[in-house]
Amino acid sequence: MGKSRANFGSRLAVVLATAGSAVGLGNVWRFPYMTGQDGGAAFILVYIVCILMLGIPGMISEFVVGRHSQRNAYRAYAKISGGKAWRYIGILGILTATIILGFYAVVAGWCLEYLYASLVGHIGGDATTVSRFFTEFINDPVKSCLWALAFILITHFIIIRGVEKGIERASKVLMPILLLLLLVLVVCSCMLPGAAKGVEFLFRPDFSKVTKDVFLDALGQAFFSLSLGTACLCTYSSYFNKDINLFRSAGHIACLDSVIAILAGLMIFPAAFSVGIQPDSGPSLIFITLPNVFQQAFAFMPELGYVIAVIFYALLVFAALTSTISMHEIGTAFFHEEMHISRHRAACILTGVCGVLAILCALSVGAWTDLQLMGKSLMDFCDMLTAQIMLPLGAFLTSILLGWFVARNVLHDEFTNGGTVNQRLFGYWLFAIRWIVPLSILLIFLHQLGVL
Ligand code: TRP
Repeated sequence: MGKSRANFGSRLAVVLATAGSAVGLGNVWRFPYMTGQDGGAAFILVYIVCILMLGIPGMISEFVVGRHSQRNAYRAYAKISGGKAWRYIGILGILTATIILGFYAVVAGWCLEYLYASLVGHIGGDATTVSRFFTEFINDPVKSCLWALAFILITHFIIIRGVEKGIERASKVLMPILLLLLLVLVVCSCMLPGAAKGVEFLFRPDFSKVTKDVFLDALGQAFFSLSLGTACLCTYSSYFNKDINLFRSAGHIACLDSVIAILAGLMIFPAAFSVGIQPDSGPSLIFITLPNVFQQAFAFMPELGYVIAVIFYALLVFAALTSTISMHEIGTAFFHEEMHISRHRAACILTGVCGVLAILCALSVGAWTDLQLMGKSLMDFCDMLTAQIMLPLGAFLTSILLGWFVARNVLHDEFTNGGTVNQRLFGYWLFAIRWIVPLSILLIFLHQLGVL
């Protein structure tokens, strides 16, 4: 282990960093829009089952790989398997994370624009005006590209300055504030006229709306939200101390992550139903809904609405930043350690690639709608390709590797911290990664392909 390898100071810092990676736009932006597209409550049920049965065991698997080998994703998989071919799981992860960072930065850029626009008071008016504001913004090639690039550059700057620790320390304060503010906004949103329909949409399952896509969408969303399947968790856990309880950490993070996602749903849907926004509006959903919440719910005191909006967008930007840092770090650690170049150079490679992809993605949903792949805008294509194919594939291969090709005592040692914790749970976890995780992913794939 080279000196250049950073190490998380305290146990709390580790879990915070990993939670920071998990909590982001996946919860506040992607979860509501997927839920809206897939009919509400029934999707949420499938999603929760995916988190419990596949997500938590999958997280522990990546933790085991990373902490056992204490190397970048590529080397970690090679080391724990003792074989060469498995390191391609690491490569697959690095590739996936790079693509995700490309389109994620675009949405993060939208949040920056919203932060700016709400700060200077540009967003206002009725629901139609608010939604027109969004359309005009994403159709402006300069603005949308610049905000996305700005976001990648901020991430880059933090990565090369090595100030992640400061960021993690800040998230200790900011994460609880985000949670609190979400709660306030949930209450406000639920008090809007006609909001009950939104709550019903979220909690009363209508199984007639369960389409073929629901299963794969829920699986992809669960993995995306937990940062699972790209060796991201493996990279972070390579910095873990030996006394961290992997099972408990995975459980805590999955729980926090799901609570935040569901709160975000409870903030968005009641308001959307109240002002007449279609729940299946797609990726634009939160951007055309949120400004209405701030205005309508705080109509009695617009100044308060202004302050809350600004704080909320700022926290959202921060949450997105702790996620983009984690995606950037996977590739940066790889290039730095495997190509023997400085961290600075390694980070530049990644920033360059993601920057180009982000520009193309931003244009594909705005000024250059012809930029399509398989009938989808490049941005949607990248989103679906990663969440529905690459993430499940990464998790599938990892569980096959650990379940069937790694010595049981290595797994036992990592899972139980050398026999000191969670002894009894080990068997369940092993069963899950041998059978439940790979078979479920396989079944969902086959189901989607129409084979079943
Ligand atoms: N989980 C993050 C979110 O919900 C996004 C994210 C960060 C991610 N790192 C990842 C997704 C790695 C997949 C893989 O916003």
